[in-house]
Amino acid sequence: MSSTTTRESSRAITASDAAARLMDRCKVLALCTEKPGEILRTFLSPAMDEVHQTMRPWMEDAGLRVSVDEAGNLRGARAAHHSPTAPRLLIGSHLDTVPNAGAYDGVLGVLMGLALVEESADRQYPFAMEVIGFSDEEGTRFGAPFLGSRAMVGELNGDLLQCVDSNRISVAEALHNFAATRPEADAPALSPQTAGYIEFHIEQGPVLESRNLPLGIVEDLVGQSRCSIEFHGTAGHAGTNPMKLRKDALAGAAAWMTEVEILTKRVDDAVATVGQIAAEPGGVNVIPGIARCSLDVRHRDDTVRTALVRAIFDAAQSIAEKRGLRVNTAQYHEQPAVRLNANLVAMAERAASLSGHPAIRMSSGAGHDAMVMAAHVPSAMIFLRNPGGISHHPDENVAEDDVAAAIQLGLQFLAQFAAQVKEKDHA
Ligand code: GLV
Ligand code: MN
Ligand code: MN
Repeated sequence: MSSTTTRESSRAITASDAAARLMDRCKVLALCTEKPGEILRTFLSPAMDEVHQTMRPWMEDAGLRVSVDEAGNLRGARAAHHSPTAPRLLIGSHLDTVPNAGAYDGVLGVLMGLALVEESADRQYPFAMEVIGFSDEEGTRFGAPFLGSRAMVGELNGDLLQCVDSNRISVAEALHNFAATRPEADAPALSPQTAGYIEFHIEQGPVLESRNLPLGIVEDLVGQSRCSIEFHGTAGHAGTNPMKLRKDALAGAAAWMTEVEILTKRVDDAVATVGQIAAEPGGVNVIPGIARCSLDVRHRDDTVRTALVRAIFDAAQSIAEKRGLRVNTAQYHEQPAVRLNANLVAMAERAASLSGHPAIRMSSGAGHDAMVMAAHVPSAMIFLRNPGGISHHPDENVAEDDVAAAIQLGLQFLAQFAAQVKEKDHA
């Protein structure tokens, strides 16, 4: 056997050991939850702190200098071999979850960063590495997503700070309270040396499985709007008010939801979701006076998405008028569609091929921290096959062999990134 073959096969064994360890770690982190019996971790919560406490020794053992910044992002830095001012490559994803989540969405990408640091411990790269666990990507606590990455790129400001959680605590107050207990925390700034960001993530859909492929290279991510819609009618007695004299806010919301589906199905590739609905006052025998709904609309073309949101808002107005209701519509978050960095996308594709796992290029319908990072740092994303295409669900899964393939791809990516840094140094 040639020495190259020996080295490659020993690396394959290491990658599969590393994948097994990563899977075990996902299971350990899944126990850090704010709701017994299901996985739920939100921005700046005690469960998130528990994740940080659990990960800290793993990261320190890998030689990372670990800190949590003022926005609750977990960060672990490894210096470059030869220079304190060398370029820095960030590898990360998020540590928060949706309600009743699976064990891999976000967490897997953070642990991939750690696995790559561990697996490359004996290599001397001409760039620094930073593993990042963003504090919020899902927006579960405040409705607005990407709070961790936005803080890091200096975009956690304006109206975003005024969003409130279910206890009416604003983002600004939550950040203030968090910082007060951690006077040693640094501001959530990007290092000026940052030269790239790479995020590994389960696909959260069925495409790779249907193509029988372990990995995909993300080229672009669709844009998204998050909105709130409130119907106001008149609350009253459920027994004494004849149907035609009622102003039932929830019945108005139900009619509007049907219209959301009809309007969205008319637009190719558009998706719209009403994921939350709350009726007030909420009695079995009380006509709902207020219905509050969330709305999430996505499309790869921002003009198409904006027009669809307008049409859905117009439908709410016209349904409200017909039923004698009032309606308030507002878009409180918008993330334009994003194309990832062509150089890093090509590098990831080469890395896939060199690692023996050819991968297709694809779009992401899900939002990811890479969307926020890409406007500030050259960014790339790798998807891992997601058996059954199930995500945002406790049955979410990923195969250990696919994690091993992603680790092999990642190590090739680091080698390519190193070669490019050296080339620039000598240019
Ligand atoms: C996050 O997973 C999102 O796409 O909303
Ligand atoms: Mn998610
Ligand atoms: Mn995610």
